[in-house]
Amino acid sequence: MAASTREPVTVTVTGAGGQIGYALLFRVASGQLLGADVPMRLRLLEIPQGIRSAEGTALELIDAAFPLLASVDVTESSASAFDGANIALLVGARPRTAGMERADLLGANAAIFGPQGRAINEHAADDIRVLVVGNPANTNALIASAHAPDVPAERFTAMTRLDHNRAVAQLALRLEVPVTSIDGVIVWGNHSATQYPDISHATVDGRPASGLVDEDWLENVFVPKVAGRGAEIIRVRGASSAASAASAAIDHVYDWVNGTGDRWTSAGLSSGGANADAAAAYGVPEGLVCSFPARSAGGDWAIVPGLDEAPLARAHIDASVAELVEERDAVRALGLLG
Ligand code: NAD
Ligand code: LMR
Repeated sequence: MAASTREPVTVTVTGAGGQIGYALLFRVASGQLLGADVPMRLRLLEIPQGIRSAEGTALELIDAAFPLLASVDVTESSASAFDGANIALLVGARPRTAGMERADLLGANAAIFGPQGRAINEHAADDIRVLVVGNPANTNALIASAHAPDVPAERFTAMTRLDHNRAVAQLALRLEVPVTSIDGVIVWGNHSATQYPDISHATVDGRPASGLVDEDWLENVFVPKVAGRGAEIIRVRGASSAASAASAAIDHVYDWVNGTGDRWTSAGLSSGGANADAAAAYGVPEGLVCSFPARSAGGDWAIVPGLDEAPLARAHIDASVAELVEERDAVRALGLLG
């Protein structure tokens, strides 16, 4: 199928038969994940309940005749799915329904990510990069990483780009400007109701955003709107976000692989290793996957260091980090950290 002479990149997508999988895979295969000149092999991992759906999606991927798509395989075997994988999108997990918090999924979904981390450790390529989408995404990334001791912890990331995009979009709506006018938004903490979307460093066409909105709107409208958007989608749509989540996954990996330049975005990153000092300076202890302001260069994410914290931000960040610590301790007590 592929016309390019470059060696294809192997991209593994778990939960490929689900709603995010369906919104994601066609964009991946069209070149939006890695770049318009990068051919790929797709490996779709599913469990028995989802395998027919994934097989159907694979048939449609073939029918789309994407020039960059070298092959598409569907499997129930983690070993085959992650064999030689360069990029892994861990989407497969049970989504929450109305009335649940994402942390309610800990027990149901945590058991998936240990074995998948182990399979990545054993079978993936040396340059494997992992994005965890399945909730609770930060703690699932931590679990997967704990089972992959040979893979640097920095390569396991969690998706908070959807929260970042939501924050940019809400600010743009409020100020009636295009989203492209906005720069410097940060989402701190957990992909949960405690996350803190922070505009204290944001600019709107180069002007400080904080001078354009009042504190009451920020604290009582903007923050709860962004942090509660996942639940709002579930209420209105009757199912959790899918196409916007797929879009954010594309943004996260595209920026990771191709670089962010001078601008930053938000990503759930390990608070240890090369990031330990920058994380500690923001009050985030080692051993968590937490959302930070992040830039990517040379294929590596790094926390943007040394930003001043607005007084209001501190309490919010502390609360979200405390929740991450609680989730980590809960999965540790269940023996899920290896
Ligand atoms: P879905 O139920 O439509 O699809 C999930 C798919 O995963 C199903 O086909 C299921 O068979 C499969 N699956 C379950 N266990 C698996 C396993 N062990 N290996 C491989 N596949 C497996 O759900 P969805 O709407 O696609 O959402 C997937 C996950 O993404 C949920 O946890 C959801 O909460 C999460 N999510 C995260 C974000 C974020 O911003 N981080 C945004 C939206 C959704
Ligand atoms: C989202 O933020 O839309 C997802 O994490 C789904 C959810 O449960 O909120």
